[in-house]
Amino acid sequence: MIFCFFITGCSNKSAEKKEKEITIGFSQAGTESSWRKAQNKSINDELNKQNYQVMYRNSFSDPKQQIQDVMTFIAYQVDLIVLSPIEENGWEPILEEAKQAKIPVIIVDRNITTDRKDLYLTHIGSSFKAQGGRAGLYVTNHFQRKEQDSINVFEIKGSENTSPTRLRHDGFTETVGRDPRVKITQSITGDFIRLKAKEVFSQAIDEGKLESIDVIYSHNDEMTLGALEALKEHQVENKYVIVSIDAQKEMIDLLKKRQVNCVVECNPFMGNLVANTVKRYFEKATIPEDIYVSDTVFSDHNDFSTIPPRNY
Ligand code: AHR
Repeated sequence: MIFCFFITGCSNKSAEKKEKEITIGFSQAGTESSWRKAQNKSINDELNKQNYQVMYRNSFSDPKQQIQDVMTFIAYQVDLIVLSPIEENGWEPILEEAKQAKIPVIIVDRNITTDRKDLYLTHIGSSFKAQGGRAGLYVTNHFQRKEQDSINVFEIKGSENTSPTRLRHDGFTETVGRDPRVKITQSITGDFIRLKAKEVFSQAIDEGKLESIDVIYSHNDEMTLGALEALKEHQVENKYVIVSIDAQKEMIDLLKKRQVNCVVECNPFMGNLVANTVKRYFEKATIPEDIYVSDTVFSDHNDFSTIPPRNY
């Protein structure tokens, strides 16, 4: 008995020590939204729960800073890098450096564009194209029985060179393409930031670009909130069909007040999947090429009492 206890005690202790010795470099894109803050907390919390040492860097939406952050991880010889990228292009040279240094990389949330699948272990995140598709489906369903020759969409895009912007646009246009009346006639970029969207949307109002618009489709809630503030300040009546993405609490509250029509969820709680994947990697288990986070959609067709608490 005493011997067993001794052996078990020893092996547990060494397993624990092993995890504490593992250093994970976590490179976060920024702090641009409540969504991002929730995603950031979820990943940090779950990695800490597993007892990994986390070396954390936030690049505050600066792509050059993010490259520096990853280079710091490589120089420090961390055991694994969790990369939540800002931009989707230009990652090959730095990931090649990580590979040469034998440091595996897990991409989370946004995708990177490369044919070199050998440069990273896996991608964990939502399907942004499916999110755009869900937004488009709401629009086509909404106007299905309406006798109207044209349906004009004002699109508020996220930052250029990012996968959610490209794929949310593609998914939306692909789906609304089934109804030839629906067209994106105005498009602005709000960088996923409330204040920036408010500024550019205000300018669009001043330039008369809202004339004949039926739908406002925004790539995230923060920008939708900015656009709504601009409408209010310009005393423009909100007669638009409004479709947003993320499902932050603030936006769901507006859905319940019927001030917006459809909110496509982007689930930020990916920390568990990330920490489990890291664990599986160190246990030498097989890891799938893509790990999808599940999302849903909330709209004015829902029974609002069934919407789960948002927590972000
Ligand atoms: O990459 C995910 C997007 O980034 C979220 O939809 C948005 O809120 C964040 O800025």
